[in-house]
Amino acid sequence: MEFQKLIRQRYSVRAYKNTPVEAQKLDRILEAARLAPTAVNRQPFRLFVIKTSGRQEELRRIYNKDWFVNAPVIIGICYLRGKGWARKDGKDFGGIDTAIVMDHLILAATDEGLGTCWIGAFDPEAAREFLELPEDMEPVVFTPVGYPDIEPKEKRRKPLDELVTYLE
Ligand SMILES: Cc1cc2nc3c(=O)[nH]c(=O)nc-3n(C[C@H](O)[C@H](O)[C@H](O)COP(=O)(O)O)c2cc1C
Repeated sequence: MEFQKLIRQRYSVRAYKNTPVEAQKLDRILEAARLAPTAVNRQPFRLFVIKTSGRQEELRRIYNKDWFVNAPVIIGICYLRGKGWARKDGKDFGGIDTAIVMDHLILAATDEGLGTCWIGAFDPEAAREFLELPEDMEPVVFTPVGYPDIEPKEKRRKPLDELVTYLE
């Protein structure tokens, strides 16, 4: 899809059909995630692909919305703490790296006609338990992945002059 069209096409999908996601589409969106840039190319992340079928009740503990647990697939990204790059003032870029990876994945999913929704408001302890994460792996964000069962809403965004400062 043409890029300007693609970024307008993506929206937070909060209703999914139970149609399965084709394995080839899943492979392509994971490949887009793999190709994302990370600071100093450290690639300090791990993606988890969760097939939801039969696990909806367990998944509700992570994020208790019907549309989250009823999407056919959920993908989560974890930051491998200590493996990312930190600037000399201590600023750790792991959160930024994982967000870029997830954005690649989400835009690639949009390109495949799939819906997604960034989920940051999940229960981290429940996510840790479900994914059996060791201490140094931090769950950062999840997204359901599936075919949308809802129409897009118009985007509400601030005007550019509120968001951009030009220094000349
Ligand atoms: C980092 C991040 C975390 C988010 N967490 C949640 C969430 O926990 N639950 C939810 O329903 N939407 C969540 N969203 C979706 C935002 O509410 C949504 O992207 C925003 O309102 C703009 O709408 P749009 O995605 O349809 O363009 C999150 C978005 C981002 C970028």
